Amino acid sequence: ITVQADKPGAAVPKTLFGLFFEDINFAADGGLYPELVKNKSFELPEPLLGWQALKGGAALETYQVRTEGAASPASPHYLRLTAKATSPDAGISNEGFRGMGVKQGEDYTLTLLARRVAGPVQQLRVVLEGDKGATLAESRLALPTGAGWQPLTLTLRPAATFAKARLRLVLYGAGTVDLDAVSLYPKATWQNRPNGLRPDLVQLLKDLQPGFLRFPGGCIVEGRTLSNRYQWKETIGDVASRQPIINRWNTEFAHRFTPDYYQSFGLGFFEYFQLSEDIGAEPLPILNVGMACQYNSSELAPMSRAAAPGPSAPAPHDHAQDDPSLEVFIQDALDLLEFANGPASSPWGAKRVAMGHPAPFNLKYIGVGNEQWGPQYLERYEPFARAVKAKYPQVQLVSSAGPSPDGANFDLATKFLRELPTGLVGLIDEHYYARPEWFRQNAGRYDNYPRTGPKIFAGEYAAHPEGIGNSKNRNTWDAAISEAAFMTGLERNADIVQMASYAPLFAHVDAWQWAPDLIWFDNLQAYGTPSYYVQKLFSLNKGTQILPVQLPAGAKNGQDNLYVSAVADKADVVVKLVNYAATPRPVQLTLSGLKRAAKTAQAQVLAATDLQTENSLQQPQKLAPITQPVTVAGQQVSYTLPPYSLTVLRVPAR
Ligand code: AHR
Repeated sequence: ITVQADKPGAAVPKTLFGLFFEDINFAADGGLYPELVKNKSFELPEPLLGWQALKGGAALETYQVRTEGAASPASPHYLRLTAKATSPDAGISNEGFRGMGVKQGEDYTLTLLARRVAGPVQQLRVVLEGDKGATLAESRLALPTGAGWQPLTLTLRPAATFAKARLRLVLYGAGTVDLDAVSLYPKATWQNRPNGLRPDLVQLLKDLQPGFLRFPGGCIVEGRTLSNRYQWKETIGDVASRQPIINRWNTEFAHRFTPDYYQSFGLGFFEYFQLSEDIGAEPLPILNVGMACQYNSSELAPMSRAAAPGPSAPAPHDHAQDDPSLEVFIQDALDLLEFANGPASSPWGAKRVAMGHPAPFNLKYIGVGNEQWGPQYLERYEPFARAVKAKYPQVQLVSSAGPSPDGANFDLATKFLRELPTGLVGLIDEHYYARPEWFRQNAGRYDNYPRTGPKIFAGEYAAHPEGIGNSKNRNTWDAAISEAAFMTGLERNADIVQMASYAPLFAHVDAWQWAPDLIWFDNLQAYGTPSYYVQKLFSLNKGTQILPVQLPAGAKNGQDNLYVSAVADKADVVVKLVNYAATPRPVQLTLSGLKRAAKTAQAQVLAATDLQTENSLQQPQKLAPITQPVTVAGQQVSYTLPPYSLTVLRVPAR
């Protein structure tokens, strides 16, 4: 194998390997967003979802969700508890998101709004309950003495670590009390921010050194119907005012169903931008293009209304009154660019500044629609793209090519998008969920792709060993090594493939709908799958320029189960080699034209002879890269690839 070290080609974009985030599999509430109380403001359609009266309410006279005299019109529901007498069971408990993960000795801040309505009751007992009802932490809150709502707060410090704790709120005395906005939030968040994110999960993302962060999905961008589409304007500002909606993944998929799946939007667009900044990734928001999910209602926004789009000044959005035309969606995109990049003097820029981020987020990319297809998509894409480009010519637009890389819709969309005037489509977003062999067979997908026109964003991909939508899918080494083979093709064609992201990113072990996923977690721990380590090896070694590779005697990439790509990383040479064979494979590498190579290279190897190997919470690094020294003799490297392995060989300059 010859790597032409002295013939560097196109630059490898910094964005090549990034992240796809979607609130699927409890990735946001119950995952990255660490609020422990489910349905904290009683605003879900089932207003007591997540809450249970203790002992079935036997010690309570009544418990009911009401709206009269609410603390805030933005959050109109609250809970009224009436206790007959002092009892350890005169209250309610919250179940969290498949329990609440709490750690011994760490602080958790309880905040709520309370109003004393009647009776002598003066205190609220707050208990964090562990295994078999054991008390992990307990404290009491003095209830307000006046008539109105009052914010109350205390800190709980659990005596033991437990993944499935519950929160109990008990009236200490007879009387009637109203409660709202009950939050239990860990003090230890990413960068110790209030309303901050779960630190171990953010760290796993940061460790990937991602080039971009695509958010908020996925199908949740579209919603099952337009009324429950993702509306970014509803997700910024005061957290207490963000109204929850049903999650698109609150549906049966792969014979799994999570009927308690909602989006609280505690993790909203401001937090996504902030996260992108924290992990050094370009933000890539995907926006609705006036179409609900085509796997569900396929509801369409009309192209136009008689009235012109409303002014862009921030105004509260009323879901019930929502009947938007395409103009509204376009305006949302323009306003998002102003929110992200505009000055404090602009209406939306002022909102960002008010949330504590005076500097612009430097948004450069916008995705228009997610995985949509057909004439309705193409009809909406063009005016959307024209309007955004007219106001923000520098912004790169990302279009959808539809769901299946082998389908007619995909080809139709690609043809149409490629024929649009230059610049209207920056990148075409291709998705591939397929069996592992598809990834190995398609490693050359972009080798002969046209070099003019839009670039490629491989926006969602993952190898599904059992086929898509099968709950038996596992994050096996077979899936991951096949993705690695495919990624050599992405890297080799990094002049045209400018972005790529595995999908989905996260899954809660007790609340998932879709598998495989890159990172699995429970309420306390998380682990990266073999695919995670493949992503990490590629991302941390993506280099700066593509290097040409010649295989022996005209052999093709992938032939005989060997896949190779190479890059220069400034002065280093980095070669990626995938051996998808059960036997070791000796290779002789010539780094032609390389001057001043060090005598020792470094091989980072991910290998397992058993293709069914997986990581788990119990064995999080069963399969993880190991590093070995390799001798370099001038321009020659002799190395034996282990069976079923990915090797990243870095030859440093002397
Ligand atoms: O990644 C899971 C889903 O797969 C996404 O929501 C959607 O875009 C695709 O069909």
